[in-house]
Amino acid sequence: MDRIVVQGGARLTGSVRVSGSKNSTLALMASALLAEGETVLRNVPRVRDVDTMLKILEALGARATWDASDPNTVRIEGRVLKPEAPYDLVRQMRASFLVLGPLVARYGSGRVSEPGGCAIGVRPVDQHLKGLEALGATTRLDHGYVEARAEAGLDGARVVFDMVTVNGTQNVLMAATLARGETLLENAAREPEVIELAEALTKMGAEIEGAGTDRIRVRGVERLRAIEHAVSGDRIEAGTLLAAAAITRGEVLVQGVDPLHLESTLDKLAEAGVELVVTDDGIHARAWERPKPIRVVTAPYPGFATDMQAQMMALLTLGSGSSLVTETVFENRFMHVPELQRMGADIALDGRSAHVRGVERLQAAPVMATDLRASACLLVAALAAEGETTVSRVYHIDRGYERIEAKLRQLGAEIRREG
Ligand code: EPZ
Repeated sequence: MDRIVVQGGARLTGSVRVSGSKNSTLALMASALLAEGETVLRNVPRVRDVDTMLKILEALGARATWDASDPNTVRIEGRVLKPEAPYDLVRQMRASFLVLGPLVARYGSGRVSEPGGCAIGVRPVDQHLKGLEALGATTRLDHGYVEARAEAGLDGARVVFDMVTVNGTQNVLMAATLARGETLLENAAREPEVIELAEALTKMGAEIEGAGTDRIRVRGVERLRAIEHAVSGDRIEAGTLLAAAAITRGEVLVQGVDPLHLESTLDKLAEAGVELVVTDDGIHARAWERPKPIRVVTAPYPGFATDMQAQMMALLTLGSGSSLVTETVFENRFMHVPELQRMGADIALDGRSAHVRGVERLQAAPVMATDLRASACLLVAALAAEGETTVSRVYHIDRGYERIEAKLRQLGAEIRREG
């Protein structure tokens, strides 16, 4: 099994371009099921989750492939023969559940394995079902599969989400585009990935207002046409690379991402003493001293991204004082803490908060990744640790980061993959 080996201590310098957004891509791929014709997505990250979504679309009967001439382009012809997404694929990636809305809306029914929980939380899908039922679908759990039906089509309705859910908003938004009449989504997610999906759906012919706010209005249309779309840069990858630069007291230019998409991350890095300059070229980051202690509270966008919590914590382990990190989105997203403690970090957990008392140095150690962002956190810590760290179970990181060790090596990191 692959593992990544990092010799800590190298100061990161130079420039790096991020890949396309993994989370935007997954929703855009599901939306191709709504369209007649071939959807072409460019700037798609070559990561395992995208491969899984391609397999899900193929299992439904769609033609879904990487483009032969461009390694970061996928082509999807959304015709569905059997509207069922199998357990073996869905259990590998919860975002597979995003095909349910498009299947019900365009084909009158969908059957998707219930995703179940994951390392970071229970993660129910009740809000997805609440939304689809409000649009007139019937849903039921059948031997581990969620089945949703609306043979006579969907009708627009008012949906109020009980909590802000990104994929829940996206799933119901996609379904509403082909529903009769008007849908109003309230307490909707405002993430850039929701805005990008709404922009793409609008290019496909949908009528949507208010994406990016907590109230999204959709007027249903008869049909949607396939489009070509270039996926925006990955804000979480960008944040990860900036945290890596800061922990090595480096100086880097991160390119290919809209700085507005990661404003809350940039604010917290600046609060911790990282010098940031945003130009048309990209985001310049420079750090030359121990991070200042700060308070981080994760929240839905535009709050601080939960997907950056672990990487930011890694940086704060070397802070010049005590920081407090509170995770409010997922109930079990501190799996990286025991591994950081094994590297000499001084962290005390207290319910949904972690008290991170800065230490002078981290020690290299063999560590294990438990989920995608925890593995990114361990890589960031390893870059500053004294000695050689081995991070195992890196298949987690391959789910969402394209060629991460090559990008870090490009910035001067001593890093290699083994296995
Ligand atoms: C998306 O997951 C992202 N995944 C996650 O990124 C990200 O952490 C999360 O949004 C929050 O920003 C993709 O876009 C593929 P939620 P999602 O529904 O939509 C509860 C990564 O590292 N909830 O916004 O599944 C839920 O349990 C991944 O790239 C319900 O209770 O997250 C959580 O506590 C990890 N019922 C909260 O809402 C529901 O029906 C927010 O989850 C839905 C959600």
